Amino acid sequence: MTTQNELFEKSKKLVPGGVHSPVRSFKGLHTTPRFIKKSHGAMIEDIDGNDYIDFCMSFGPLVLGHKDEDVEKSLVSALSRGWSYGTCEPYSLDLAEYLLSRLNFVDQIRFVNSGTEAVMTALRLARGATKKNKIIKFNGCYHGHTDSMLIKAGSGLAGTSEASSAGVPEGVSEDTLVLELGDVEGIEQCFKDHAGQIAAIIIEPLPANNGLLIQDTSFLQYLRDVTKKNDALLIFDEVISGFRVAFGGMTELTGIVPDILTYGKIIGGGLPVGAIAAKKEIMDNLAPVGNVYQAGTLSANPLAMVGGLETLKKMTTEAYAELNANAEKIISVFTKWLKEYNNGEFAHYSLTGHSSLFWIVSEEGINCMDKIPSDITEKFNPLFKTLLDKGIYLSPNSYEVGFVSLAHNDEVIKELETRLWK
Ligand SMILES: Cc1ncc(COP(=O)(O)O)c(C=O)c1O
Repeated sequence: MTTQNELFEKSKKLVPGGVHSPVRSFKGLHTTPRFIKKSHGAMIEDIDGNDYIDFCMSFGPLVLGHKDEDVEKSLVSALSRGWSYGTCEPYSLDLAEYLLSRLNFVDQIRFVNSGTEAVMTALRLARGATKKNKIIKFNGCYHGHTDSMLIKAGSGLAGTSEASSAGVPEGVSEDTLVLELGDVEGIEQCFKDHAGQIAAIIIEPLPANNGLLIQDTSFLQYLRDVTKKNDALLIFDEVISGFRVAFGGMTELTGIVPDILTYGKIIGGGLPVGAIAAKKEIMDNLAPVGNVYQAGTLSANPLAMVGGLETLKKMTTEAYAELNANAEKIISVFTKWLKEYNNGEFAHYSLTGHSSLFWIVSEEGINCMDKIPSDITEKFNPLFKTLLDKGIYLSPNSYEVGFVSLAHNDEVIKELETRLWK
């Protein structure tokens, strides 16, 4: 049988680093990425027939679990009709109508193919609508891999921006001002230093890409107020938090309504979908109504629209209660095990949780990048490997969060306990 190692070696010859997205390479984890051949519920199975309880869940979209039967049926039926038209079709209309009936803080939505595309368009829309160029983003928030979001800078360095990727032109990075989460003084200074030039502030209202950096609602409210005061727009990037922490994401949970929202992940139920949503007067800036251009050959792909709609329809109030209850139980099982395992080998860990997300880290109350322990990756390696050997699959990076789904039910939690204490 082909081994994981052989497949990875072959993959590295054909594809840079053997992967199509860097985190999949298990870089620094001293083990070979598992090649997954199938999945069901909370489980994934590799090509050697080993199964794992999955807490990565495709990095978030699979809120119902893998291969949900109703989503599968809807996809098979959609497939029999055809899978791309490049025309108007009823499927995206059904999804848009359903979404807007439950997201009462926006009037319109446009579908794209990924979270990155959604953010790219949201930024252009904000700039087009305000006729200003600069964007404030926060260190520790990830907004996909569009050039202008691959920038970092230290606290108090507003106005000097350094790219975190080669290939990002200086001209692009100059218009991105990076501040620390919670740095109200820095934001005030930034609006003074760049008066009349700031188009928008973008934030993950629940930052979940560099650990889980839970923000005070008062900070989000401050962002709402300061943007209004300075005629700038507020963009909530709800690619992870949308349809997960509540149907209406952090916007619904906090009651703080941004000007533009970006969605991804759960909105497509595991198929490639992203979206931008806002009030009509802002959305009217998009082509063909307005002059902010945006387009896509495969945008609103009928299969993805159907998969997304079937997934989202199942996310009732009761489903959210169940999802959060699953997560609470899982967090308490992991917490107990971390304290007890191997005479306290992992006792330095604690879990930070929010709704159905968790982050395994060694200190509590971390809410900005500065507070993340510098040895986090080193410490994560033995934990990740121990769990992998026990048939438990975490997201393969110390900064990534764990995702709980509706399929992580009591039966799976019992199996988790068995595997942990085996
Ligand atoms: C908050 C946020 N924004 C944007 C993105 C980019 O989405 P995608 O990977 O679909 O391009 C991600 C991806 O993890 C994300 O978490």
